[in-house]
Amino acid sequence: MRAAVHRAYGPPDVVRVEEVPTPVPGAEDVLVRVHAATVSVTDGTARSGSPTFSRLFFGLRRPKWTVLGSEFAGVVEAVGSGVTRLRVGDEVVGITGPDFGAHAEYVRVHQDSALAPKPANLDFAEAVALVDGTALAFLRDRARLRPGQTILVNGASGSVGSAAVQLGRHFGARVTGVCSTPHLDLVRDLGADTVLDYTREDFTRAGQTYDVVFDVAGTSSFGRCRRVLNPTGRYLSPVPSPSLLLQMPCTAAFGRRKAIIAFTGLRKAAEKSRDLLLVRELAEAGTFRPVIADRYPLERITEAHRHLERGKYGNIVVTMTGAG
Ligand SMILES: NC(=O)c1ccc[n+]([C@@H]2O[C@H](COP(=O)([O-])OP(=O)(O)OC[C@H]3O[C@@H](n4cnc5c(N)ncnc54)[C@H](OP(=O)(O)O)[C@@H]3O)[C@@H](O)[C@H]2O)c1
Repeated sequence: MRAAVHRAYGPPDVVRVEEVPTPVPGAEDVLVRVHAATVSVTDGTARSGSPTFSRLFFGLRRPKWTVLGSEFAGVVEAVGSGVTRLRVGDEVVGITGPDFGAHAEYVRVHQDSALAPKPANLDFAEAVALVDGTALAFLRDRARLRPGQTILVNGASGSVGSAAVQLGRHFGARVTGVCSTPHLDLVRDLGADTVLDYTREDFTRAGQTYDVVFDVAGTSSFGRCRRVLNPTGRYLSPVPSPSLLLQMPCTAAFGRRKAIIAFTGLRKAAEKSRDLLLVRELAEAGTFRPVIADRYPLERITEAHRHLERGKYGNIVVTMTGAG
């Protein structure tokens, strides 16, 4: 099969499309013919090996996993003898384990991996752009967002942020989205009640307060956001920083305003599957829609990585079949 392979850390050019052996499913495995996969911020970090501390996870001297890609949409091609949950021909969306492998024509996953039926009303590229469950886990489980509350999403045009804006509305909150000038209309269309342009104003000085600040971009801090948090407000970010790692246990023990970080990617597969099912329901009901910055065929995956380096809004998708 063809796959995007990288054997050394470096710029987008380290990724080459090569012929590699097609994975063989074991008794409990499912082989999925991948139609579309995202090229995510995590893929960029794993490819570049930057920041350097990320190599503790991705491989100290060279990449541990040579085929990247975690989120995929495709069709079940083969199943092992012990597989009961899925059948050949099922259209699915899913998330690989920490070992990646979705930037390829086929990916092998365990039947208990994060998998759900593809939303019927979306093509494969659109479906995979909904897969990142980070925003859902953050808003529901960590922020415990309730109807009538207020949330500010900093980085509202990105892959996690665009989902957070829509899910915030779904949970009945009033949503303020922060992004750059070219993306104000997009964020408004996604359902934000208010949009702020970070190139023109600093939301921490705009005089509004919120129950939740979800700093997806990681460009602010708990210290700066304290003044815009309501007395029991929560500051959440998916971007780790030394100060946030320190503030989290401190604010858990003392004070009413909380600083929270979570690595939602490390949640159990069963939890991710449940989230995928909810995301699918919302997509089919038309209350959650994907945001795609661009689609690239597998042959042009290096360009997809270059796009990632320049900065993106929404999701970058690589398609294996040409059809998306
Ligand atoms: N902990 C976890 O489990 C987990 C899971 C997924 C992602 N993450 C992390 O979450 C972060 C966001 O991921 P993503 O996929 O959503 O990234 P993304 O799609 O690249 O989005 C980043 C967004 O940040 C915005 N931005 C850039 N500079 C900004 C600023 N100064 N102020 C406000 N917004 C700014 C950009 O908006 P404009 O384009 O409008 O400028 C862009 O839309 C990444 O660091 C990623 O590694 C963590």
